[in-house]
Amino acid sequence: MARIIAGVASSHVPAIGAAIDNKQTEEPYWKRVFSGFETSKDWMAKTKPDVAIVVYNDHASAFSVDVIPTFALGCAAEFPPADEGWGPRPVPVIKGHPELAAHIAQSVILDEFDLTICNKMEVDHGLTVPMNLLFGSPRQWPCPVIPLAVNVVLYPPPTAHRCYMLGKAIRKAVESFPKNLRVVIFGTGGMSHQISGPRAGLINSKFDKAFLDNLSKDPKKLTRISHLEFMREAGAEGIEMVMWLIMRGALDDHVEEVYRFYTVPASNTAVGHIILENRGRTADKRAPASKAKRSTTAKPRRAAAQVAKQFVRRSK
Ligand SMILES: [Fe+2]
Repeated sequence: MARIIAGVASSHVPAIGAAIDNKQTEEPYWKRVFSGFETSKDWMAKTKPDVAIVVYNDHASAFSVDVIPTFALGCAAEFPPADEGWGPRPVPVIKGHPELAAHIAQSVILDEFDLTICNKMEVDHGLTVPMNLLFGSPRQWPCPVIPLAVNVVLYPPPTAHRCYMLGKAIRKAVESFPKNLRVVIFGTGGMSHQISGPRAGLINSKFDKAFLDNLSKDPKKLTRISHLEFMREAGAEGIEMVMWLIMRGALDDHVEEVYRFYTVPASNTAVGHIILENRGRTADKRAPASKAKRSTTAKPRRAAAQVAKQFVRRSK
């Protein structure tokens, strides 16, 4: 049976992708940002998920403003990086997991969440930047990815509560998949930022840090934040944070926060990042096919737990 073992949230600032592509990561301005993800890459390398579900938003790359689905699930075998105006980012093509994606689509739609099924889709920085931050810049991505695009660019986006409940439906879908897969789910976007208008450049660290606290300990409180409150407190583009609640809804009510990072600014955006593991640990059990299999999987799990302990700290 497949299990969601952990959730990761990360901002997707496009300038972070440009800094990677232009080899500026060691410059002092960017080093401050990238250093906050070094431990996360170690965690991910040791966690070794079999599949990642990446909840992200498209920025008029795969979907024009003519057609914007509220929730769109990538069911294709691969997802090429989109040309966002400067050519596609030089990152590997994202390989999908059509079998699990189709299963999720069936389960979630029958649970009355009406996903758009995408059998062909390009993915932009909203997906590739968090991938870089958590997986680095490998020649091939280490695991297949199921993209879930959420409309947060044209009013009305889905509510925080709707996103949280979709996360629960995704978890139910994953847990009814008959193959033994360890799944990590990403929530991306945010944190506070506004890129145009009189409040351009708005950053609200107090709101962001309270959001991170509640994401970890009291996510249901976040499901009551209205669109207007998101926009007032976190800027027009701060609404992207509803995507983090899909990730959180897919986890246990009580989770273990193993890492957090927050810094301002990157470009004109607050960068937030958190890693949450399912506390029950049942999520990390493989079927005991043989003693040898158990021993080979136990080592990475123990290593991940050790790394996680080292990571419990909060950056300011
Ligand atoms: Fe964005």
